Amino acid sequence: MVALRRHIGATRYGDLYRSTILAPGERGPFPGDVAAARGRVAAAGSGETLLRLLGLGEAVAADALDAEARALIALLERAGLGGPVPGNLWRTDGWVAVPFGAGHLLADCPRAYGGQEVRVYLGPDSILLTAALPKVPGLRVLDMGAGCGVQGLLGVPEPAESVLVDIEPRAVRFCALNAELCGLGPRVRAVLGDLYEPVTGERFDLIACVPPYVPVPRGVPYSGVANGGPDGLGMLRRLLGGAGDHLRPGGRLVAVCQLLAGADGPLLAREAAALAPGLRLTAEVFSRVPAAQLTAELSAGLASRVPGWTGAMLAEAYGAAFRDLGATDVLGTVLRAERPA
Ligand SMILES: C[S@@+](CC[C@H](N)C(=O)[O-])C[C@H]1O[C@@H](n2cnc3c(N)ncnc32)[C@H](O)[C@@H]1O
Repeated sequence: MVALRRHIGATRYGDLYRSTILAPGERGPFPGDVAAARGRVAAAGSGETLLRLLGLGEAVAADALDAEARALIALLERAGLGGPVPGNLWRTDGWVAVPFGAGHLLADCPRAYGGQEVRVYLGPDSILLTAALPKVPGLRVLDMGAGCGVQGLLGVPEPAESVLVDIEPRAVRFCALNAELCGLGPRVRAVLGDLYEPVTGERFDLIACVPPYVPVPRGVPYSGVANGGPDGLGMLRRLLGGAGDHLRPGGRLVAVCQLLAGADGPLLAREAAALAPGLRLTAEVFSRVPAAQLTAELSAGLASRVPGWTGAMLAEAYGAAFRDLGATDVLGTVLRAERPA
C-alpha cells in the first residue's frame, strides 16, 4: 500500500485525472488547466502508457510498464480492480485516481468509459458535502452510500471511527482500498448493505450522505448511483426515517441533494416532520433552477445513453412527471437533521 501511495503521488495522477475525465476547455470541479495537464502527462515518459491503462481502461503490453507500475497492477489485481489479460497484456477495469487534498482517491472514471455505467461515483456534490461536514476531530462517522468513501475518509479530521456503507459491492472494495491509501485502515469499516441494515443498533455523531437524488420517471432506465425514484426522494426518505435511531444525542445528519419544489416550497417539506420526528431539520439552498431546465438537461444528456428513448420521449416523460408532482423548481440543498443533546 505504501508503494501504491508513492506511485500514485509520483506519476502525475492528478494530471491523468484531469486529462481523461475532462474535455479540453472544461475546468471541472478540480482546479487546473486541462490542456496543460495533457502536455505534462505526455511529457512524463510512462505517462502515455499509464494514461491508457488507468485512465482509458485499455489493455497495455506488460513490458511497457516499469517495475513500480507492475507492482501497482499487482496490488490492483489483489483488490479485484485489474490484472493480466491474454496476450501478455494488463488492464484495469476503469478507475481513476482523483487528486484530493494531499492525497488521492480511486473512483470510477465517468467520461473515459463512455457506455460503461459508473458504479463508484465522485463528483462536485461529493466535494460540496465533504466541505460542509463539521471539522471536529474524534467523531464516530457513518458515511451512508459511501461510493469511494470521500466523506467518511476525508470529510472530518481524525475520526474515532468511520463506517462506510454502500449497496454496491464495487464501491465497498474501493472504500477499503481508499482507506488504506489515506492511511486510515484500522479506523475504517467498509461494509456492504442496504442503508442502515449493516449498522443495526449502532449510533453515530455524524451521518453523511449524497443520496441518489435525480428524479427519474417510471420506466426510464437510470444508474443506481443517482436514481432517486420518480420524485428524487426515494433514498432520502429512508435516510431521514432511520436517522433518529442512529444518531447519538447531539449528533447530526448532513446530506447534499437536489429537492424538487413547487409553489409552497420543497415537496419534502410536506412530510419531513413526520419522517424524522424528534430531529431538528434545516435546509440551506445553494442553487435554484427551473424544473424545465432540468428536463432539458436530463433529456439531452440521457438521450444517447438510454436505448430506445429519444430526447423528445424523455422530455415528455420528465415534463409530465414534474407537472403531476407540481414541481416548478429544483433546489440544490444542504440538508441537516440534528438530534438535540
Ligand atoms: C450519489 S452516490 C454518492 C457517493 C459518495 N457518497 C459521494 O458523495 O461521492 C450515491 C451512493 O449511494 C449508494 N446507494 C444507493 N442506494 C443505497 C442503499 N439503499 N444503501 C446503501 N447505499 C446505497 C450508491 O451505490 C452510491 O454509491
